[in-house]
Amino acid sequence: MRIPLIAGNWKMNKNPAEADAFMTVVADQVPDPDQVETAIAAPAVVLTTMAQNNAPDRLRLAAENCYYEDAGAYTGETSPKTLAEMGMRYVIVGHSERRLYFNETDDLINRKVHAVFRNQMTPIVCCDETMGRRESGEKIHWVVSQVTGALKGVSEQQARQLVIAYEPSWAIGSGTSASADQAEEGCYLIRQTVADLYGDPVADDMRVLYGGSVKPDNIAELMTKRDIDGVLAGGASLDAETFLQLTHYQ
Ligand code: G3P
Repeated sequence: MRIPLIAGNWKMNKNPAEADAFMTVVADQVPDPDQVETAIAAPAVVLTTMAQNNAPDRLRLAAENCYYEDAGAYTGETSPKTLAEMGMRYVIVGHSERRLYFNETDDLINRKVHAVFRNQMTPIVCCDETMGRRESGEKIHWVVSQVTGALKGVSEQQARQLVIAYEPSWAIGSGTSASADQAEEGCYLIRQTVADLYGDPVADDMRVLYGGSVKPDNIAELMTKRDIDGVLAGGASLDAETFLQLTHYQ
């Protein structure tokens, strides 16, 4: 039985005071993580305050990125070891915005996946799909190659724990989500790719999220789909009450 995961991605938003105000509202209102797991991914500079102010256990903390070494001369980067010591549960790896603006490759993303596992955290690997690739029929090849590239050398046990997010970039920030059927199609493709790599039992254990303009008025239908185990919400996670509506989608 896969526990649903409702995660927010603040991207480059909120300062420590705004993060504190958010946590004050949601702290004890998110669901029991044994029923519905919730997480917030915040900028590294904000996570420090959130971790120090004892974010509620019920709400997991996540980083939006990390480097693949634990320490060293990598100016400006964030250590996965330090993130783990701060109590991070998840790290988003390979978000479409990092692939687009920072030229992250499948090889770099794969190194980060291993670094996150090495530090006993769980990667949320993002797979994107541009409208161009969708319309030209390249979608399947593109999603399969991202999943395969990210999972190079990942063990069966690690793959069972993994979270992969299907985030069609044509739906991100647009205000218009993919339809529930389109989202299911992408999440099914990801799960089938994992099944081809590791077998059905592993693919059935790992969780697949949908991201791309998730809102309180579309999450319920998305969550009825067999291969959608949760969401990765950007804009809708910035407001505490809206995020709570997402977490109480049932
Ligand atoms: O990582 C989630 C994000 O890319 C989706 O953003 O604003 O379309 O929900 P948004």
